[in-house]
Amino acid sequence: MGCPRKSKLEMALYLEVNGGLRLEIIVAKTSGFCFGVSRAIRMVEDSLEKDSKKKIYSLGPIIHNRQVVEDFKNKGVEIIEQLDQAQKNAILIIRAHGISPEVYEQIKENNIEVVDTTCPFVSKIHSKVSECSKSGYSIVIVGDRSHPEVVGIKGWDKDAVVVENEDEAAGVNISGKACVVAQTTLSEQKWDKICSVLKERIAEPEFFNTICSATSDRQREARDIAGKVDVMFVIGDPNSSNTRKLLEIGSEYCPRTYLIENASQLDVNILKENDRVGVTAGASTPDWIIEEVIGKMNQINKTADEELNFEKMYEESMRVLHDGDIVKGRVIRASDKEVFVDLGYKADGIIPQEEISDNPDQRTGEVFKAGDEIEVYIMKVNDGEGNVLLSKKRIEYIKGWDRLAEAYSKGELVEGFVSEVVNSGVIALVSGVRVFIPASQLSDRHVDDLSKFVKKPVTLKILEFNRQKKKVIGSHKVVLQKETEEARKNLWENIEVGQILTGTVKRLTDFGAFVDIGGMDGLIHISQLSWNRIKHPSEVVKEGQQVEVSILDINKEKGKISLGYRKDIDNPWESAINRYEVGSIVKGKVVNLMPFGVFIELEPGLTGLVHISQVSRKRINKPQEVLSLGQEVEAKITEIDREGKRISLSIKEALPVIEDEAQAKNETQDEVIPDEHKEDMKVTLGDLIGEDTGAEEK
Ligand code: F3S
Repeated sequence: MGCPRKSKLEMALYLEVNGGLRLEIIVAKTSGFCFGVSRAIRMVEDSLEKDSKKKIYSLGPIIHNRQVVEDFKNKGVEIIEQLDQAQKNAILIIRAHGISPEVYEQIKENNIEVVDTTCPFVSKIHSKVSECSKSGYSIVIVGDRSHPEVVGIKGWDKDAVVVENEDEAAGVNISGKACVVAQTTLSEQKWDKICSVLKERIAEPEFFNTICSATSDRQREARDIAGKVDVMFVIGDPNSSNTRKLLEIGSEYCPRTYLIENASQLDVNILKENDRVGVTAGASTPDWIIEEVIGKMNQINKTADEELNFEKMYEESMRVLHDGDIVKGRVIRASDKEVFVDLGYKADGIIPQEEISDNPDQRTGEVFKAGDEIEVYIMKVNDGEGNVLLSKKRIEYIKGWDRLAEAYSKGELVEGFVSEVVNSGVIALVSGVRVFIPASQLSDRHVDDLSKFVKKPVTLKILEFNRQKKKVIGSHKVVLQKETEEARKNLWENIEVGQILTGTVKRLTDFGAFVDIGGMDGLIHISQLSWNRIKHPSEVVKEGQQVEVSILDINKEKGKISLGYRKDIDNPWESAINRYEVGSIVKGKVVNLMPFGVFIELEPGLTGLVHISQVSRKRINKPQEVLSLGQEVEAKITEIDREGKRISLSIKEALPVIEDEAQAKNETQDEVIPDEHKEDMKVTLGDLIGEDTGAEEK
């Protein structure tokens, strides 16, 4: 389960509230109850369990610890200072400090049951003092004269001298033998110093270092720890001699040494981040008090650990970014100036407008919208203002090189757009990479003005690619040629006579217009451009014009296609013919004289044929004998062939009726029109003006 994401403000508050304190805690192994105290406590507890009917007294506090003493008091152990305060038939506890022989005598006299918890090490001192005293030795006790232990020891030789410090030692003057003993909780240092003085003050000294090893070990360890920590806590009762000595030692080696009785006196405010904390405790300090103090500090550490874990999880939940990384993010908002991106990082990313795209027409606000997942390039993890500086263009650029490398190796086409004209060519940007297109490779036709390609999309085949030299050359011409080739192939496969296609007029000549019909050019012969007589194709079409053409003829062997442009619906014959009917007399103009007859133009675009047999009632050998070009004549319509678009005329039948019909009959030529002349009577404008309607390009 991931760490819940917190806002940066929430995170700061969390750290502030908890302080983020982290402590290193060193606990002395020698802390707490010594052997003698443990033994005494156990003996008291045994007494409490053994006989609950007898009153139990303690001659002085059992140990120097208020909590322990209070606990025993609650269990029925009453503390007395004098023996006469005790009831008879009671139990009297003698504490670990020991007592004098005189007190033992009084107890005996009062017939009181005793539980003697005097520490064996203290008892040993009693024996030594008693023995030496009896042997004529003077007794010197080095220690605190008011301490119950020292009071007890002195009881074994009433003349014993107590020395508390070096000054007092200097006042000692013993000319004979002397036995020197120490309070069990004296510091070794103090013992050494005082002894060195006593050596000079006693004629025959015998030093018995009776300092308890538990005490010396505890003090040595306290010294070691105090010397390497920032803060030292000595846990114990201020009335405890060995506790006070520990405080003394700690303060000497660690200025921030504090005496505390229990966890409630531990002030966490004195602690600082990453403090190294030492802990020791006097011989009368029970383990549970030490554990409470350590537990309180561990709780601080636990909190710090939780914070650390939280921070760690928080950091882990955040992406680690490096300059140059390519990562995915989500668009927060986009304007035409910049795009804000959530990167799953502690700071948001910004893509400035100039790092969005090379395409000047690309409007950022239209391309990106909130919620879009996009890939970005990390330019700077911190732009100096705490934001991540991003680039979209650089991704295009990096990917562009990869794409171009692939396209080059596979011969694939790439899309780009022309950004500028340069010397002898143009530059096209393909996914952010500059590709040079030589002028000769820009088109399959000659290009006069390269600038007309600028800002236009272009499809390219890569001719040359060198990533190290950052050199890429592309060709649009190759692409066009390939497209033309494919279109031509497709055209030849599908083209049919009669198809209507749309093409573009590419070139005009005197004999017609060449039209690109998709892959190749076909020819509209000049006669197919208009029903009317025209002198040049430019009267009807112009270069670049889109035209609708019909396929008139296909010559695959020669690769030629004949196209038609004029439409039947525009044919004047169609509209005019409805105004004429067979038998009517019409007027016209001689427009052509042929051996087989005469062409008469009835109106522009509508011409009829007068067969030579119908020209005159007289027999003639050729029409010129009676008619001339441009001559106005009257003729009778003898036949209209709508399908064949032919009008047959007769001048002879339009003449006035003559009286001598026999004569007329004799003089009339045969009226039957020969079959070979009937085809000649198919009159079109093309026939009339004598044009070639052949499909072939000239
Ligand atoms: Fe005994 Fe040493 Fe403790 S003398 S009471 S064991 S300090």
